Amino acid sequence: MRCRISPKEASTPRGLGLGLAIAALVLVTRPLEGADPEPTFARDVAPILQQNCQVCHQPGSIGPMSLITYEEVRPWARVIRQQVITREMPPYHYDTGVGIQALKHDRRLSQGEIETIVAWVDAGAPLGDPAELPPPAEVPSVHEWSLAGDMGREPDVIIRTDPFDLQAGGQDTWWRPVTPVGIAEDRCIAAIAVRPSPGGRQVVHHANSDIWIQNEEGEYELFERVSEYALGKVGEIIPPGACRRLPANAQIRWDVHYFPGWLEEDLAGDQVELGLWLHPAEYEGKFHQDLRAYSLPSDLDIAPNSIVMSQGFHSFDHPVRIDSWQPHGHLRLRGSSLEIYYPPEGGAEGVGVDAGRTELVSMVSNWNAGWHTSHIYEDEVAPLLPAGAVMILTHWYDNTAENPMNPDPTQYVGWGSRTTDEMSHDWIAVTHLDDAEYQRLLAGRKAEDQ
Ligand code: HEC
Repeated sequence: MRCRISPKEASTPRGLGLGLAIAALVLVTRPLEGADPEPTFARDVAPILQQNCQVCHQPGSIGPMSLITYEEVRPWARVIRQQVITREMPPYHYDTGVGIQALKHDRRLSQGEIETIVAWVDAGAPLGDPAELPPPAEVPSVHEWSLAGDMGREPDVIIRTDPFDLQAGGQDTWWRPVTPVGIAEDRCIAAIAVRPSPGGRQVVHHANSDIWIQNEEGEYELFERVSEYALGKVGEIIPPGACRRLPANAQIRWDVHYFPGWLEEDLAGDQVELGLWLHPAEYEGKFHQDLRAYSLPSDLDIAPNSIVMSQGFHSFDHPVRIDSWQPHGHLRLRGSSLEIYYPPEGGAEGVGVDAGRTELVSMVSNWNAGWHTSHIYEDEVAPLLPAGAVMILTHWYDNTAENPMNPDPTQYVGWGSRTTDEMSHDWIAVTHLDDAEYQRLLAGRKAEDQ
């Protein structure tokens, strides 16, 4: 198993050297079959946990336990095995092997890493030679701005919710303050991140923020969604060339859903922060990017012990690029997909000759309502849609006892905002293009394919 060096391991000189050394050892000493040395914590598993788990599993972070030392990890070995085999951990629910796989901030383990962990647990989870332990990793704290590293600086603007007092053990609470952005000119946003306070991190169920602007009558109205934060979310970098607009004198209207039931003591004056990195004032992103909720039918009627599929269709009268996709549902949602129908080339004349084609772009078949991840496509593979192409959004709801998240398969479930109701929309970031830009991007991809 250790002979296969996954790309992730190979990218670190240490992993590569180690992998090659083991491969060489195996070749020299014994035939390949069954000859892999048993993985050990010190040599094989600790580096995987450092790179993929410790950001959340360190003291004071959001994971329920620390996974740094052997003594901390050993009691969890069997649970870890189960969680990585089912790909429940790290939390990034997205199917492998179908659709676009090149994603930004992808937390998934490689198959090789999963196999290493499984082989290690099956071998009795040995420590191995402590001399081989990697030096402690410098894992960024979850309380730092997640994108500061990528952007090379702290956010240019930080907008905070008004302070809110939380009572330990309390019920679901919604907090909807309005805060001015404080910028008097139109700007383009380069990146967005949301940061709960260290004390509030475990109890901020979600924090949505919308931009509101003044209309001609001087009244504030919704401009668009700026961010949909939920546990574990990294944030978003707007692709180069695009502009996510921040209009002058805007307000942020918040919708923070707290679940204080997990607090051990009261938390006074909690604040959630929205960090915006802005392009320089002279930057002209020609193409507007927006993040919107695209709906599926909301007349959901999910009978007890049933499985229901629903679909929504959306198209544009101009070419677009899809930059990210994030399905939204609650406890009965089990699966979700994004497909694109490309109409026949040659417009109406092509109809009857060519039926067009449908492409599966993204699929999640182990949806977990505890994690809302925006799947952000790498720039060079983000789907390019000609005018008239159709986004096909599909959700599968499982109201049977087979669904491990289902609190009660004997209930009828309809649309609604409580956790025990269902919802049906996908958050999609779209850059709106013109024909010339669409052709230019398409030609660039064709050139790369050759
Ligand atoms: C983005 C943060 C994050 C990352 C990264 C992450 N975890 Fe977790 N993990 C959590 C949280 C939070 C929970 C609590 C359950 C939940 O909310 O889903 C959890 C739960 C678990 C559990 C179950 C604990 C229990 O009580 O049953 C295991 C095991 C686990 N994680 C292992 C891992 C391993 C191994 C990795 C890396 C390969 C990893 N996690 C990466 C946040 C994370």
